[in-house]
Amino acid sequence: MKSEIERRKTFAIISHPDAGKTTLTEKLLLFGGAIQTAGAVKSNKIKKTATSDFMEIERQRGISVATSVMGFEYNGYKINLLDTPGHKDFAEDTYRTLTAVDSVILVIDGANGVESQTERLMEVCRMRDTPVIVFINKMDRESKDPFDLLDELENKLNIHVRPLSWPINMGDRFKGVYNIYEKQLNLFSANKTRISDDTISFTNLADPQLDEIIGDDAQQLRADIELIEGVYDPFDIELYLRAGIAPVFFGSAINNFGVKELLDTFIRIAPPPLGRQAAARFVQPNENRFSGFVFKIHANLDPRHRDRIAFLRVVSGVFERNKFYHHVRLSKDLRFSNPTSFMAQDKNVIDEAYPGDVVGLYDAGNFKIGDTLTEGESLQFLGIPSFSPELFRELVNKDPMKTKQLEKGIEQLTDEGVAQLFYLQPGNRKIVGTVGELQFEVIQYRLEHEYKASCMFSPMPYHKACWITSAHKAKLDEFISRKHANIGWDKEDNPVFLAPSEWLLNLARQDYPDIVFHATSEFKQQQLA
Ligand code: G4P
Repeated sequence: MKSEIERRKTFAIISHPDAGKTTLTEKLLLFGGAIQTAGAVKSNKIKKTATSDFMEIERQRGISVATSVMGFEYNGYKINLLDTPGHKDFAEDTYRTLTAVDSVILVIDGANGVESQTERLMEVCRMRDTPVIVFINKMDRESKDPFDLLDELENKLNIHVRPLSWPINMGDRFKGVYNIYEKQLNLFSANKTRISDDTISFTNLADPQLDEIIGDDAQQLRADIELIEGVYDPFDIELYLRAGIAPVFFGSAINNFGVKELLDTFIRIAPPPLGRQAAARFVQPNENRFSGFVFKIHANLDPRHRDRIAFLRVVSGVFERNKFYHHVRLSKDLRFSNPTSFMAQDKNVIDEAYPGDVVGLYDAGNFKIGDTLTEGESLQFLGIPSFSPELFRELVNKDPMKTKQLEKGIEQLTDEGVAQLFYLQPGNRKIVGTVGELQFEVIQYRLEHEYKASCMFSPMPYHKACWITSAHKAKLDEFISRKHANIGWDKEDNPVFLAPSEWLLNLARQDYPDIVFHATSEFKQQQLA
């Protein structure tokens, strides 16, 4: 089991849309021999085309089942690449997927630098101290100055960086990269199909051969490398593993350039499957007894069958087919006859899975995001919180004959994590909270097609949802009764303050010092600890 754990790497690629995540994913799979042709990996981007949005969502859902986990073998390593949705409205899905990985590769478009979505995703990585490798893509185009890019990464993302490769010019004049670590020159040739292996070792950059090969750019490269070695400390793997520093690579994914160095470094330095904190204790991957948690639920595409796939990350021990496992929240034992693993484009029924692996479990409604399976112990893994939604609307039933369907539908869709549901009392009014416009369309469409319920949404003037707790029950009760119109109840009956604005939220914080306002639902798990 030890060697199976050590040869695994579970990670995600994150980027602002269009920076090149899909392209890099595809190239990694090509290098890994998991796919043979370019174009095999479909983008899970939601394109604004002539088709209406929800049709696009259905198309995207189809792709996203297939690309949820892309496993492949490379140099003796089993690599699990977890897909994250490209669209910002699905940011919460991405946050949850990040709970199931041990490291990330962040792709930046060299011309655009750090973009809005990059900043948000990195916040989540920092929260969890996830080690990050940066890949600056599209160097075959006119890009920002590489030193400026490094500064931008440090300033906007609040991380320390250390270049491990360095570009020689850019755009039409892009000659390649110098691999600082291996002291090798990799020469660029624009080639979308072939894997370039034009490398020349240069232990001494003063070598006049460098001028012969890259001409006028040689002087600049020497000056740049001298500056880098002067300014940056040598790369420290331990610091990277503690998320204290992010190594940076430059390349051009579409041209297969810089990808091999990235992958080779990745397998050398990226962490193997790590343990996870549970409420009661820390769980190590090499423990004999199996444990794992569900980080994503995917409704089946066939509307006649309501079964779903729950994606479970194995934390410890070996998961086995047909063995009974304990579903901690339901306190019920379940076994799975068709657990599925994902290897690039293929789904296979597997007999066992190891820490770091992701298993797809067919589910008829037993799972919610964050659920834990064990061999009996009452573990509850932490760190899979709900974040405050940013948009709030009331779900209004348009067909009173279909009330039951609507209620069931919205309960199930919110179990899947499509959105969050809060109840307002009296009257059990349903407030749906999301991070993006698109989710409302998804919900309306799916309620109609899968549950035959029809609904509409009316906007609610809320800005943020904060879970509230207090050491003094009387104070909490007082707050709840005073702020009645702005108190919702989540699906587990926890009170939530639906703040109309940041200003009023701050005011409430000042006026009610005994109340704690939580930005995420994490506190529930902490209370268990
Ligand atoms: P994403 O998943 O992060 O959203 O990005 P994706 O890989 O889909 O890439 C976005 C666009 O950038 C694509 O072009 C892709 O071909 C291009 N691209 C990716 N890597 C490089 C690179 O190294 N150099 C250059 N010049 N372009 C790159 P598109 O026109 O939007 O799509 P397509 O028609 O080419 O598929």
